[in-house]
Amino acid sequence: SSESAQEESSAMRMIFIGPPGAGKGTQAARLVAHYLIPHISTGDMFRAAVTEGTPMGQEADRYMKAGQLVPDEVVIGLVRERLAQDDTKAGFMLDGFPRTRPQAEALAEALNADNLTLDAVLLLEVPDELIVERIVGRRSDPETGEIYHLTFNPPPAELADRLVHRKDDTEEAVRSRLEAYHSMTAPIVPFYEGEGVLKRVNGVGRPDDVTSAIRAALG
Ligand code: AP5
Repeated sequence: SSESAQEESSAMRMIFIGPPGAGKGTQAARLVAHYLIPHISTGDMFRAAVTEGTPMGQEADRYMKAGQLVPDEVVIGLVRERLAQDDTKAGFMLDGFPRTRPQAEALAEALNADNLTLDAVLLLEVPDELIVERIVGRRSDPETGEIYHLTFNPPPAELADRLVHRKDDTEEAVRSRLEAYHSMTAPIVPFYEGEGVLKRVNGVGRPDDVTSAIRAALG
């Protein structure tokens, strides 16, 4: 119908790339509230599967705990299914996917098949030396999904008992996650640069300043 064609033409399709702890989840939550698009975080989807104890969750948990990437075929299948859901007609914010060259190719294939293009690939840049501090101090609220930091965004005292510290937020796992980022994920950046959709954003500074930088980059 013309209505759905209109919906699709105004749809915003975005990807967030960046090292672990760069602030992708924090910023994605703000962007999806602004653009009214679904927030698709593969990390959140895997953590939900781990909590539910599904076979996929059990498999993913082994990799996540060690700070390693979950195998491409598992992630690609999961994202394909998610993108087939109706709410993505309004667009989407992919957070933490793609993370490897095969994942980027699978996404391009899925979008091409539906004649869709990406509006922006946001690369959130934060130097490694700031990452460990951000990750080790992170706490999340499993009930609201809210992300806090003991120093940079302290949670309200009354929530203290229910906040969780992710199993992969240890210094050791973070080192592996950074290594995976530099060896597997950073190489997909030139692919999007070549497509002319890459926007580099400085992820250092207060979260509000980073949000302003993202808004400016999106124009
Ligand atoms: P995932 O959940 O995607 O984790 P990640 O990429 O490592 O990113 P994080 O969630 O750790 O950080 P973030 O950038 O969202 O930062 P946040 O906003 O929380 O993936 C986890 C695992 O799942 C992977 O290791 C892998 O095993 C698996 N996986 C997921 N997707 C996969 C895929 N596609 N392929 C294969 N495997 C996959 O911020 C961090 C902290 O900093 C918070 O405490 C926050 O409050 C604070 N903070 C945020 N902004 C600022 C700021 N500007 N200044 C100071 N502090 C800040």
